[in-house]
Amino acid sequence: MKILVATEKPFAAAAVDGIREIVEGAGYELALLEKYGSKQELLDAVATADGLIIRSDIVDAEVLDAAKNLKVVVRAGAGYDNVDLASATAHGVCVENTPGQNSNAVAELVFGMTVMAVRNMYDGTSGTELKDKTIGIHAFGQVGRNVARIAKGFGMEVSALDPYCPDSVIEEAGVKPVHSVEELYSNNKFVSLHIPATAETKGSVGYDLITRLPNGGVLINTARKEVIDEAGLAKALEDRKDLKYVADVKPGNADELSEKFAGRVFFTPKKMGAQTAEANINAGLAAARQAVAYLRDGVDRFRVNK
Ligand code: 3PG
Repeated sequence: MKILVATEKPFAAAAVDGIREIVEGAGYELALLEKYGSKQELLDAVATADGLIIRSDIVDAEVLDAAKNLKVVVRAGAGYDNVDLASATAHGVCVENTPGQNSNAVAELVFGMTVMAVRNMYDGTSGTELKDKTIGIHAFGQVGRNVARIAKGFGMEVSALDPYCPDSVIEEAGVKPVHSVEELYSNNKFVSLHIPATAETKGSVGYDLITRLPNGGVLINTARKEVIDEAGLAKALEDRKDLKYVADVKPGNADELSEKFAGRVFFTPKKMGAQTAEANINAGLAAARQAVAYLRDGVDRFRVNK
């Protein structure tokens, strides 16, 4: 049995060592494809793999067609919008994620970027503080919950919107539940996005919501670029000179935004939220354990396709 780790954006070396220990400890072979420059390299490497561990790497029908022996794909991370689930099901391949394993890393970056925004991108001018300010968390999943915990440490007032999470869970975290997206954006100076990219959420955060933010509002996106209506975002930044947008996911119109709104927008060059040694180790090792458990014992607790 062979498990391929295919990561265009590689894990920290310590995570790869840990994955190797788990895979080889189970008597399986580990193959490593890091920083690959073309899809062909992935198609070639996956041809003989029984298990596949990925990050944001695209696993579409072409990859699944090429992977004749493949039985399981584990996305070392939370979002699995990069995997064609229907095609995986049609190919008889189990797809899993590793929920929660990298969420603290992403939540810490939310505040790295939020502080940067309120300190005017560290340009030497006088900024503002986060203490006593309002933050709205758009989706109270694993990352959202860590954002709430850290926001409270900053002394912020925290609200959250999540139709899939009972109010009692939000309240137990000391957070105020809100029940409409309009309310979330109107009443919070900071809004941090944690919705997945799905058919319903794609393009769902646009001009109308963004311009609801109070004066000096900051939208923080460590989720997916697809959830933003990028034309609406550009128009909102044009009409509201007080707003800022910071994102761990470079928008399609990044060049236009950076040029027109210099000092009010910031984008990481590559998705960096989960790019810490700790998150790589947590998610990478969990993925290795899950791949082995599936191949050896058929365990599919974290399966996300039917
Ligand atoms: C996730 O969905 O887990 C995060 O977006 C991290 O993605 P990455 O593994 O590509 O950094």
